[in-house]
Amino acid sequence: MSEPLLRVEGLTKHFSTKKGLLHAVDNVSFTIDKGRTLGMVGESGCGKSTTGRAILRLIEPTAGNVLFDNIDVRSLDAAKLRRMRTRMQIVFQDPFSSLNPRMTVSQAIEEPIKLHGIITDPQEREERVLELMETVGLAPRLFNTYPHELDGGRRQRIGIARALAVNPDFVVCDEPVSALDVSIQAQILNLMEDLQDELGLTYLFITHDLSVVHHFSDDIAVMYLGKLFEKAPSDELFDHPMHPYTQALLSAIPVPSLHNRKKRIIMKGEITSPINPPKACRFAQRCPYATERCTCEEPELRDYGNGHSVACFLCEK
Ligand SMILES: Nc1ncnc2c1ncn2[C@@H]1O[C@H](COP(=O)(O)OP(=O)(O)OP(=O)(O)O)[C@@H](O)[C@H]1O
Ligand SMILES: [Mg+2]
Repeated sequence: MSEPLLRVEGLTKHFSTKKGLLHAVDNVSFTIDKGRTLGMVGESGCGKSTTGRAILRLIEPTAGNVLFDNIDVRSLDAAKLRRMRTRMQIVFQDPFSSLNPRMTVSQAIEEPIKLHGIITDPQEREERVLELMETVGLAPRLFNTYPHELDGGRRQRIGIARALAVNPDFVVCDEPVSALDVSIQAQILNLMEDLQDELGLTYLFITHDLSVVHHFSDDIAVMYLGKLFEKAPSDELFDHPMHPYTQALLSAIPVPSLHNRKKRIIMKGEITSPINPPKACRFAQRCPYATERCTCEEPELRDYGNGHSVACFLCEK
């Protein structure tokens, strides 16, 4: 039996804005077992990146607990958090803006090794950089090139090498392939899968594209306006989506075979504002099945067996 490497309990992040309190992430809980991948999906602005960043404390959570390998991440002081960052890393969507344009490939990969004092001998460090370049599929001849000389796929390989440079156990992958051409997306996803097998990595894989996470993830979490709406093993979610929002998301994925084609569910109605949201289901205004109850009460995430949890009154019947 595998055990959770990451436990997120009631994670909440609110931002104070001029218009009021923006509920970016509200009471989100999940676990990820060692060596597994949780795919996190949902539309733009639903709180995926905020969740990833709050776990790593790149932004401070408003409330909730993050337990990593049974260590309470929120209780760590600055020095301990710095050490913890060698175990928890992040790969960003846009490798270009996350890389310093004045650093060569080798300098960019070397930086985290230096910063965390992982290898102090320059010669050894150079060898490690070359090894990391090989691991992520960057040719040695690219050692002294600059990011602008490379295509998006290679730049993302640098981002991955930088994350791996500190030998992490866990990586938040925040839309790592969304900015890349489709053909390159597959290469990078394959690389990330191979690295997971080789290094035993655990991933939180964030994407707005459900078709990307299906094969990549063991479990999938569906977010909507800061709330976790549904969570299930990947196949289970695709075969038996329970939340009307998940059903709508899945119906929007193009299916090549005519036989399996489902009718696309078009979501109508206004999107609820994340600022001071009402005590109601946040999807109620767009949900074709919404009842009176959905507009005055908020459904909790409930376990329906087979690792499948849903926050919807409809499923409670
Ligand atoms: N620093 C901030 N200050 C105020 N509001 C913020 C801040 N960062 C994020 N938000 C808001 O929090 C909500 C969640 O944003 P987040 O970036 O986590 O969404 P996302 O799911 O990652 O979206 P995308 O798919 O576009 O990357 C959004 O409404 C966003 O505008
Ligand atoms: Mg994001």
